[in-house]
Amino acid sequence: MCGIVGYIGNQEAIPILLGGLKRLEYRGYDSAGVAMISGQKLSVSKQKGKISRLETLLSEQNLNGTIGIGHTRWATHGEPNTVNAHPHTCCENKFALIHNGIIENYSILKKELQGKKHNFQTETDTEVLVHLIEDFYKNNNNFELAVREALQRLDGTYGIAVVCSDEPDVLITARKGSPIVLGLGKNEYFVASDTAAIVAHTQQVSYLDDNEMAIINRKNMVIKTIDDRPVEKRVEQIAFDVKKIEKSGYKHFMLKEIMEQPQTVFDSMRGRLLDEEGTAKLGGIEYEVDSLLRSRRVLFSACGTSWHAALIGEYLVEEYVRIPVEVEYASEFRYRNPILDRDTVVAVISQSGETADTLAAVREAKRKRAKVLGICNVVGSTIARETDAGVYLHAGPEIGVASTKAFTSQVTVLALMTLLLARMSSMSASTGRSVVQEFKLLPEKIEQILKNRKLIETIADKYVDATNFLYLGRGINFPVALEGALKLKEISYIHAEGYPAAEMKHGPIALIDENMPVVVIATKDSTYDKIMSNIEEVRARKGKIIAIATEGDDFIKTKVDHVIYVPPFTEFLLPILTIIPLQLLAYYIAVKRGCDVDQPRNLAKSVTVE
Ligand code: G6P
Repeated sequence: MCGIVGYIGNQEAIPILLGGLKRLEYRGYDSAGVAMISGQKLSVSKQKGKISRLETLLSEQNLNGTIGIGHTRWATHGEPNTVNAHPHTCCENKFALIHNGIIENYSILKKELQGKKHNFQTETDTEVLVHLIEDFYKNNNNFELAVREALQRLDGTYGIAVVCSDEPDVLITARKGSPIVLGLGKNEYFVASDTAAIVAHTQQVSYLDDNEMAIINRKNMVIKTIDDRPVEKRVEQIAFDVKKIEKSGYKHFMLKEIMEQPQTVFDSMRGRLLDEEGTAKLGGIEYEVDSLLRSRRVLFSACGTSWHAALIGEYLVEEYVRIPVEVEYASEFRYRNPILDRDTVVAVISQSGETADTLAAVREAKRKRAKVLGICNVVGSTIARETDAGVYLHAGPEIGVASTKAFTSQVTVLALMTLLLARMSSMSASTGRSVVQEFKLLPEKIEQILKNRKLIETIADKYVDATNFLYLGRGINFPVALEGALKLKEISYIHAEGYPAAEMKHGPIALIDENMPVVVIATKDSTYDKIMSNIEEVRARKGKIIAIATEGDDFIKTKVDHVIYVPPFTEFLLPILTIIPLQLLAYYIAVKRGCDVDQPRNLAKSVTVE
């Protein structure tokens, strides 16, 4: 989704802005632009499409200057075209502004400003803000005050950066509901919506909180609340390895991230398994374990792939800890009146830690006095900071829009939480010790599946032209079917549905004929016999079956068109294995269809608007 980068210092701003924007490409965007001040002249360049097009335009324009802002836009209000791209400027071309988020009262403000003869150029909600700033500035001639007064009139969410040609040594940024990170250098400052954009220049950062703004010149930075109260900020040192956000020889980030999973799952477990005691140690929720065990209900809330991980969490906690669990889409949770009390623990799951609906769920749950835990990947993200306690995934930055390694790490962390809680309740030490040993086998088991990727590529070849896919699973593998279908539709644009295998009879079976590929997760687990019957039902209707099965199961070969084997493993951790072939299958089909797998159309990595 939209990305922000800003610079003020003594270096040429354009290369820094373009470099930062490229690091934000993964978030998903449809146009990009920059604004620069040179002397007291404000120049804006923007382009529909990829950043490389903006880069070409800039190389023809020869702009220079040491203060500037840049943006990647993901359209909400108004078509994705060059006019609607950010930065936006006001009538007198004095201010340029970039914005992430949504201004909900923009139409009222627009009418008011049009009444005052402001001339609008775009269909965006953002443009009202730059005119509003201009309007206040006409009265008070004070850049900071004009921004502050304008922000106080807004309903909705924003992360903004704004420059003014009357004050070429000042950059202002502010946040409400959309992240802003400030990077500190020597006589230079960086602003971004995501640390990835600035980490090549500095690892000293501060994060703005909601309703805060920073007024930055080359020598210092002042942070205040929007209503002008001083704020003290900690400067944090972030550990960020730039290599982790590069493709390292892979054709796509998605493939790199799929292949990294033996390591990332290992990293999620690192230092968290206790052999002797047969349990897990999760420092971040150490003081909340009692509330979890005493709770009458655990409610998981998340979006997208993280929601699928939550469904697996539901299965694990109910099965092994015997606490009732509910799973809610964060977007639904926030708009009804959820029944929460002090006996409910809410656990939100989010790779980015910035998803708007999940964040809103956190705030609603806290308002209702529930204990709220966060399972996040991005360290220092808003959800990580706003939850009462939590566990990090430590999967490293995930760049591919379609989530892969974050999913397996989410399930790993949920399984670790389950082990910890089960050992504090009904699980024996000896069972715990054997579960710990199973965890340790995960990386090599994943490795074995990845080695088989040529076969998966060959199967993918046969289904490149399919228009529909059905994914079936039962029990703990049902959410895996949902996730497999989501992966395929996200990146290949083939319609795919995940279904509990037995439910197929209540609808999707009507779709099955010789043109319908059906992926069935049929591992040797507690549901094997039942799922074999479902395979027969598909076979009887001539559906093409791709089975994910357990090594050694030769019988299944006689029943299906293709088999992808995974090693035998405990049911407890099985989804971490069964999802891997489905990620690869989706990847190869999408690549063969010529799709942009890392930046699929219309999708965003981090959905920071409702
Ligand atoms: C977007 C991404 C998905 C992700 C979902 C939730 O839709 O494209 O890959 O699963 O958001 O994101 P989160 O960061 O909260 O896990």
